[in-house]
Amino acid sequence: MKIAITGKGGVGKTTFASVLCRVFEAEGKNVLAVDADPDDNLALGLGFPQEIIDKIVPISAMKEFIKERTRTNAKGFGKMFKLNPEVEDIKEKYSYKFKRISLLNMGTVDKGGNGCYCPENVLLKKLTHHLILEDEDIMIMDMEAGIEHLGRGVAKGVDAFIVVIEPGIRSIQTYHKVKKMALDIGVEKVFIVANKIRSEMDIEYIMNNVSKNDILGNIYFGEKVIDSDRQNLSPYDLCKDTVNSVRAIKENLTNLLLK
Ligand SMILES: Nc1ncnc2c1ncn2[C@@H]1O[C@H](COP(=O)(O)OP(=O)(O)OP(=O)(O)O)[C@@H](O)[C@H]1O
Ligand SMILES: [Mg+2]
Repeated sequence: MKIAITGKGGVGKTTFASVLCRVFEAEGKNVLAVDADPDDNLALGLGFPQEIIDKIVPISAMKEFIKERTRTNAKGFGKMFKLNPEVEDIKEKYSYKFKRISLLNMGTVDKGGNGCYCPENVLLKKLTHHLILEDEDIMIMDMEAGIEHLGRGVAKGVDAFIVVIEPGIRSIQTYHKVKKMALDIGVEKVFIVANKIRSEMDIEYIMNNVSKNDILGNIYFGEKVIDSDRQNLSPYDLCKDTVNSVRAIKENLTNLLLK
């Protein structure tokens, strides 16, 4: 099962992604968590120990390694490089392990200059596609906010997008845009997780503005989620209600994907 978690900024993508990973992990599944948001820290949400977090180097920052794999010419990132770099061993060598979770931190790609065809981008894209198509673990990708990266086809091939929304029109607009883009890149399933719910009215508002069949479930606004954030702890370890909601969401997701 390969899932990409998307949505507007600040809606709770990383919170949800981290709890979902931990819920699968607690069931005994091997989980590959992919941090595809350059500004984020999925490791923290997952509950990785600080000693490991301090050591994390994003793949995109491993310049020598990227050079070696893409055989960029000696004068720097010139025009000649391999468009088909070897990526098969990267997960094993460069992921960070915690419980049954392997974390790959993709990092950021300089979007200026060489644009799409810079060596970093080629390597990251090939790696992502390899993981989506060949890896056997459950893969949960925590994406950057917004939809620009979807246009670049970063998550092409995933089984589903989960769009995290909150009871407000802007995050719902993002969901509608993701749905359109998903069609363009051949991702057939787009689901919704409604986060930061405070009342029945919130749920009603959401139901009136999205396709009801897309909704996997709701997560209530929880003070403990905020506390976990402030204390740099995993919401999985601190927020029982949130974990229960995510468990129910996971059940629905599994049933819908196996259909
Ligand atoms: N159910 C919830 N109840 C209360 N607070 C929440 C809930 N979900 C997320 N938050 C809080 O909202 C903030 C944003 O959450 P998070 O970082 O998970 O969002 P994000 O979508 O990943 O953001 P970004 O777009 O910056 O990556 C955090 O402070 C988090 O603790
Ligand atoms: Mg995030």
